[in-house]
Amino acid sequence: MSASIKDVASAAGVSVGTVSNVLNRPEKVSPATVERVHAVIGELGFVRNDAARQLRAGQSRSVGLVVLDSANPFFAEVARGAEERADAAGLSVLIGNSGQHGARENAYLDLFREQRVRGVLLTPSDPAAPAIAHVGIPLVLVDGESPDGRVSSVAVDDDEGGYLAARHLLERGRRRIAFVGGPLGVRQVADRLEGARRALAEVPEARLEVVEKPALTVFAGRQVGEEFAARRPEDRPDAAFCANDLLAVGLLQGAAILGAVQVPADLAIIGYDDIDFVQSTVVPLSSVRQPAREIGATAIELLLDALADPAAAPRRVRFRPELVVRASTRG
Ligand code: RIB
Repeated sequence: MSASIKDVASAAGVSVGTVSNVLNRPEKVSPATVERVHAVIGELGFVRNDAARQLRAGQSRSVGLVVLDSANPFFAEVARGAEERADAAGLSVLIGNSGQHGARENAYLDLFREQRVRGVLLTPSDPAAPAIAHVGIPLVLVDGESPDGRVSSVAVDDDEGGYLAARHLLERGRRRIAFVGGPLGVRQVADRLEGARRALAEVPEARLEVVEKPALTVFAGRQVGEEFAARRPEDRPDAAFCANDLLAVGLLQGAAILGAVQVPADLAIIGYDDIDFVQSTVVPLSSVRQPAREIGATAIELLLDALADPAAAPRRVRFRPELVVRASTRG
């Protein structure tokens, strides 16, 4: 059984109140006593019972964050931005991964409600889901927007991002463009495709092929690349806009394998997110940058504002996407 605060007090020769002060208000305790109490905490392996503290204080020091895919570096950056801003406000971030499954998303929302977190940042698997407006704790949507604007949100204009990506390929003279996406039911994917369609509509002779995959992963992108490489050259696209960078990395691997397809000569490739990794791929990848860390930090700001003024109207923050050109679309 783990040591109690009474065990720590007894071993350090101080009162339980002094131990509590060392943990919560160390400025009220002499440095020597603080050091002695922490030494005893380490020796006894004491871990504070935050549930009891929350009951006394009536408030949690945590915020929940549910992301679509914790394996995607984009969301790691979002989480990092959120953690940095939350830490400045004395809060911790508890992270859950929905894997684009509504049931897992709801299970994490239930867990965070039970944990009495101060609020939740959510990348919704379906922003239009009715449950979004009735989560029952302060909520900010991240990388998604509620259609009726009833929930605060921070995201990038993915329609504009898709337009920028496709227009860039058209400006490079490409005319047989493939959109390599994940499930078109994912709002971000659908919006990026919509933007790409707008760009192609401006060039009558351009053609768009939509390749939908069940996931936005490197493996899915590689499958598409190998499929393109297996086609007759005249049946291949001359450019690909991937709905995120993981797909683009996989497409680059699959297309270039065995030297069947040269990037960008035979196939220009652009991704989306601008995760760090795409700068160092064998052919550095062009992408559409999302300010992931700023998105995470802004989501915490919106949550803190909602906590400070529960009656305030929801706010929708929408960042502009940025085209980043590298070798995979030059030439
Ligand atoms: O989760 C799928 C994609 O949506 C991520 O790569 C990121 O682009 C997000 O917006």
